[in-house]
Amino acid sequence: MRVVTLPQPDDFDAWRDAARALFSDATPPENVIWQVGDAPTDLFAADEPTPPPPPGPAFTVPRAFLDLARSVVLSREPERFALLYTLLARLRFEPRLIDDRADPLVRKLDRFAKDVRRDIHKMRAFLRFREAPDGDTTRYVAWFEPDHHIVRANAAFFVNRFASMRWSILTPDVSLHWDGAVLSEGPGATKADAPEGDPVEEVWKTYYASVFNPARVKIGAMLKEMPRKYWKNMPETALVPALIAGAQARESGMIAKAREDIGGNSQIAWEALRDEAKGCTRCPLYKPATQTVFGEGPVDAAMMFVGEQPGDQEDLAGRPFVGPAGQLFDRALGVAGVDRSRTYVTNAVKHFKFEQRGKRRIHAKPGAGEIEACRWWIEQERMLVRPQVTVALGATAARSLFGRVVTIGRERGHPMTLPDDQGDGGGTAWITVHPSYLLRLPDKAQAEDEFARFVEDLRGAWATIG
Ligand code: URA
Repeated sequence: MRVVTLPQPDDFDAWRDAARALFSDATPPENVIWQVGDAPTDLFAADEPTPPPPPGPAFTVPRAFLDLARSVVLSREPERFALLYTLLARLRFEPRLIDDRADPLVRKLDRFAKDVRRDIHKMRAFLRFREAPDGDTTRYVAWFEPDHHIVRANAAFFVNRFASMRWSILTPDVSLHWDGAVLSEGPGATKADAPEGDPVEEVWKTYYASVFNPARVKIGAMLKEMPRKYWKNMPETALVPALIAGAQARESGMIAKAREDIGGNSQIAWEALRDEAKGCTRCPLYKPATQTVFGEGPVDAAMMFVGEQPGDQEDLAGRPFVGPAGQLFDRALGVAGVDRSRTYVTNAVKHFKFEQRGKRRIHAKPGAGEIEACRWWIEQERMLVRPQVTVALGATAARSLFGRVVTIGRERGHPMTLPDDQGDGGGTAWITVHPSYLLRLPDKAQAEDEFARFVEDLRGAWATIG
């Protein structure tokens, strides 16, 4: 029997290192006891060691498994480490298992991951700070009781949102302390350690203002999102004039530094964001569409492509750029030498806008209001992925990224600085045409010329990635 001791209950890296070692020795899952510190977490392991099976064929762990494991490790289910290792061991001989949603083990782990993501979202939505004296200054302190081990994974989110304040988040397992530049960790606390009283309105306003980037927000759409009956009493609504004036500035330097300090949890944050986007009702396009088509690709991608909106096939598949425009896009990427799997691909608008003609759904161009409403998601995606270069495919994408009408013919094919540039090299954009423009060109020679120009633009942008 092998006993694996992980230092923390949410330590994905430690689990992965241990699993890798066990896997390379072909240690069967039933011969492993997983524990955190000195507390056994896996009470279900067999008592009797079983002989190890012969080593299996070498294999690459599917990315989907790693994504799943990163979330599952944060669960409070005691069997999570053992079940993940069981799944890993089975994947060697059943490479497609991770996609089999009917498999009871995959289903169970999916449920763990979903619970974790919901908990992450709940912490973001419901945590409230209260004011506490701290020497000559003020510290903002919040008490929160998460269901799972999500506190560290959520740290970057709160640093982003409250970068310029001194705050502490107290939970039963661990405390986080932010002093405006450095994030530190302390032991768990009790509710009695947190100040009582009403949540601090100013803080909540800051939070609100940073969530809704004031330079970009559509006030009407914003208020529509808040149930009308709450308007009068909510501190956020008092902020509206300031938001209109664009009075809030983000403390972007600190945010960038904090991200570097913390790192590592972008994938989970991205999954939580994607799940949130599934229920998006920011504009009416969600009603007739089949589903939200969120971006896809590695969260640490150096290049991001932004298209216009999903088409008919993307709406059905739930993935961007898989229809005819996507196929042309893939061909152009191939010629340009760009590896799509290393890029993050998304759209300015996340729902398919169409007109129904008989049985056919005909693409309709998204309007300025729809682009504006959906910009929230692009901003969040850009904050998480932080690509070195973002390529706007067509006018809708360029408008969304630059917040103004951009003439493609004039601006294409060279680097431009995005308005959200934070001086960290993440604010560069290239603009080019949309692949569907190329599909529509009736003249064959012109279509070939334009395709070649498109490829040149892609090649140029890709060449700038360090
Ligand atoms: N056109 C887009 O802009 N995006 C897609 O995902 C598909 C077609």
